[in-house]
Amino acid sequence: MRIQILKNAGEVSRAAACFIVNRISKNPRLVLGLATGSTPQGTYAELVRMHRQGDVSFADVVTFNLDEYLGLSGDHPQSYRHFMNGTLFSGIDIKPANTHVPNGTARDPNAECEAYEQRIIAAGGVDLWLLGIGQNGHVAFNEPGSAAGSRTRVVDLSESTIAANSDGRFFSRPEDVPRRALTAGMGTVADARALLMLATGEKKAEALRRAIDGTPSPDCPASLLQGHRDFTVICDELAASLLGDAARGGK
Ligand code: GLP
Repeated sequence: MRIQILKNAGEVSRAAACFIVNRISKNPRLVLGLATGSTPQGTYAELVRMHRQGDVSFADVVTFNLDEYLGLSGDHPQSYRHFMNGTLFSGIDIKPANTHVPNGTARDPNAECEAYEQRIIAAGGVDLWLLGIGQNGHVAFNEPGSAAGSRTRVVDLSESTIAANSDGRFFSRPEDVPRRALTAGMGTVADARALLMLATGEKKAEALRRAIDGTPSPDCPASLLQGHRDFTVICDELAASLLGDAARGGK
């Protein structure tokens, strides 16, 4: 695991975008896993800026998002499909058919989850998956208790995740947040050839400490990724504030 601690969220966004652009320059057909939430927004803005500047083309890049709310269609303002179209896809030259987000309104959500796994396999697997981390250590919508080998499936959201996502940044009231979601599993994520996790702000400090310094356990799903062969964490000083010396020196 490589851990890069930077001054602030702006530096994290720039470093993460450079990391992704570097991987695309080595492999223009990169299969890129993506995340939603506040944390990657700056990275996406930076990728759009770098694309406009001519530093990167996404013409042959294929993307897979981690998750989607069950019951929200792609044109719902709080759906993750809508978020991705607005924050990244509309600003770069990616082919819409190359962007994948689980379908929140699939008639058979379980079949959609299985099909999503198959789509990832058909694309050759994910080369690099960009990840955030929830305050309770969740990755995608893999809430505490998720098994290391879990695959794409329908899950119930925890009360703390519903609260975190209805603080006004996304939904304004907890009762508006869907109770269920389709999410790539911990095993789906761990299958990616490389992982890049971002964490910013003091609200993430405890989750990041457990993810990096804690004993791997489903109680903190992010900690299950510790043994991954190509795992980079880029975080700011606030998120890193509870890490021990070993993690600060690079593990
Ligand atoms: C959501 C998403 C996760 C994301 C997490 C943290 O629940 N499903 O993929 O990592 O929130 O989001 P934020 O970056 O807004 O703190």
